[in-house]
Amino acid sequence: MCQSDAVRKAGTGSLAETGRLFLKRTTLHGLGHIFLSGSYPRRLAWLLAFLVALAFFFAWSSNRVLYFFSSPVYTKAHVLQAEQLVFPVVTICNVNLLLPRRMKRSEIFVAGRWLGLLGNNWQVPPAVREALNRQSSGNESHWNPFARFVDFRRFLPPPGGSQPSTKQLLDRIGHQLEEMLLYCRFQGQLCGHRNFTTIFTRYGKCYSFNTGQDGRPLLVTTKGGMGNGLELMLDIQQDEYLPVWGETDETSFEAGIKVQIHSQDEPPFIDQLGFGVAPGFQTFVSCQEQRLVYLPPPWGDCKMTPMESEFFDTYSISACRIDCETRYLVENCNCRMVHMPGDAPHCTPEQYKECADPALDFLVEKDSDFCVCETPCNVTRYGKELSFVKIPSKASAKYLAKKFNKSEQYIADNILVLDIFFEALNYETIEQKKAYEVAGLLGDIGGQMGLFIGASILTILEIFDYVYEVIKYQLCRCTQKKHKNTNNNEQGAVLNLDHVQRHTPCENLHPPPTYPANMLPHQPARGNFEDFTC
Ligand SMILES: *[C@@H]1O[C@H](CO)[C@@H](O)[C@H](O)[C@H]1NC(C)=O
Ligand SMILES: *[C@@H]1O[C@H](CO)[C@@H](O)[C@H](O)[C@H]1NC(C)=O
Ligand SMILES: *[C@@H]1O[C@H](CO)[C@@H](O)[C@H](O)[C@H]1NC(C)=O
Ligand SMILES: *[C@@H]1O[C@H](CO)[C@@H](O)[C@H](O)[C@H]1NC(C)=O
Repeated sequence: MCQSDAVRKAGTGSLAETGRLFLKRTTLHGLGHIFLSGSYPRRLAWLLAFLVALAFFFAWSSNRVLYFFSSPVYTKAHVLQAEQLVFPVVTICNVNLLLPRRMKRSEIFVAGRWLGLLGNNWQVPPAVREALNRQSSGNESHWNPFARFVDFRRFLPPPGGSQPSTKQLLDRIGHQLEEMLLYCRFQGQLCGHRNFTTIFTRYGKCYSFNTGQDGRPLLVTTKGGMGNGLELMLDIQQDEYLPVWGETDETSFEAGIKVQIHSQDEPPFIDQLGFGVAPGFQTFVSCQEQRLVYLPPPWGDCKMTPMESEFFDTYSISACRIDCETRYLVENCNCRMVHMPGDAPHCTPEQYKECADPALDFLVEKDSDFCVCETPCNVTRYGKELSFVKIPSKASAKYLAKKFNKSEQYIADNILVLDIFFEALNYETIEQKKAYEVAGLLGDIGGQMGLFIGASILTILEIFDYVYEVIKYQLCRCTQKKHKNTNNNEQGAVLNLDHVQRHTPCENLHPPPTYPANMLPHQPARGNFEDFTC
């Protein structure tokens, strides 16, 4: 609205006045020096200085803006003391899939070809026969794995419905923890196989300690050091390993166990991430918890969105990989492996051999596009340091043999001890942090504005205010002219534009000064700022 009463009273040309006042009062000091006073060389010098300062300002500010949009980060690492730490999940798997000694004839028939025990024509292949003879000639093995079956050509397969599923098979004839676990102690407290949860992985039947599932409380450590961790003594039952006479996915040439130490939030992914522990050694694993926090795009490239899977609640790389591999297998083989979540049917041993194993191997080894899993923004991992001593010593071999009622050779070949403990009661956090945020950007630009041209945010408002003033003046002048032209139309019944404008206070504005709006007049200042507020 053109509330120019004060202007009217002052009785001056208000556009020029506004311009002058703007120049006089603006915090953009350069302008005043350039336009208001002084000789021409002086004003030219000011103009140059102003332009140079302005150029510096834009150059530096654009530099800062570009830096801001490059989303810089820095990494902050520090070690924090904790009152207590949640003990991680320890998952152990025997590298051997199952104990063929316990298989029934029908089970050998169903799974024999998958496990490499039978040839394609349901016969024990010649190579196997040879190995069989070699093995039975030695008296070391009290058990001949093929004594009970040699030829399946006349064997009547069990009816389809009564065939054991792969999961039942692995569950029943996988390594049982009751037999493997000779000794278990956590923080000086004895534990047993009941303190472990059974879980299936690609190694078959595995066991996890401290999952917090089944209503068991999470175990915490209140002290670092070896006495405050988990100590296991295991018998890996090497004599009963699946005999290897050919290479299949299920046979292993190694003896020992695989171990993964992971947080409760992620599923075990032991065939890819586990470390091995050999029989004949006591292995000390000293852990340190590390909490890594990454930033989502545009700063980093971690995954912020929650897990889209129906199988897992928390996103982790392991969960993503397992989820993806499950989808791939269900898509390609119409079945899932026993360690995979979901409700698709388990693959039969035949499906394992024909489809699932090759497909999964392809996915793991060759295909780098299908299962691409981003890093989660929040990772808990456990740094590990391993060291070994030999067990049993020459001195203790006899005692242990007597204690466990086994031969000394058996003890040397099969026993291992695993110690897992926190090095100290602290954890390391490694955080990616934003190095430059909006506040920093504003601060820098503000500082440069002040340093180079003496302006601030309010200066911009001043300019807008001035522009508004000028536009308003121009508009009022136009309508005034128009109003004069259409004065005799006053009685029009239609409430038209003119009618409205008749009531604007612009009527009484003085005619504009003859300067064009962009040429700034030099008149002495008259009146004060309030006179011009509209
Ligand atoms: C194997 O059997 C032979 C005789 O049959 C015996 O002399 C030898 O001690 C046995 N070896 C072992 C390791 O038991
Ligand atoms: C093992 O489980 C038993 C009972 O289920 C429990 O009393 C004991 O505290 C557990 N031991 C450890 C070390 O958690
Ligand atoms: C990371 O996880 C912890 C515990 O789950 C949580 O307290 C923290 O806020 C998370 N941090 C981020 C950045 O998500
Ligand atoms: C020791 O093992 C043998 C067979 O390996 C068994 O016959 C014997 O009863 C066992 N002795 C004890 C004390 O368990």
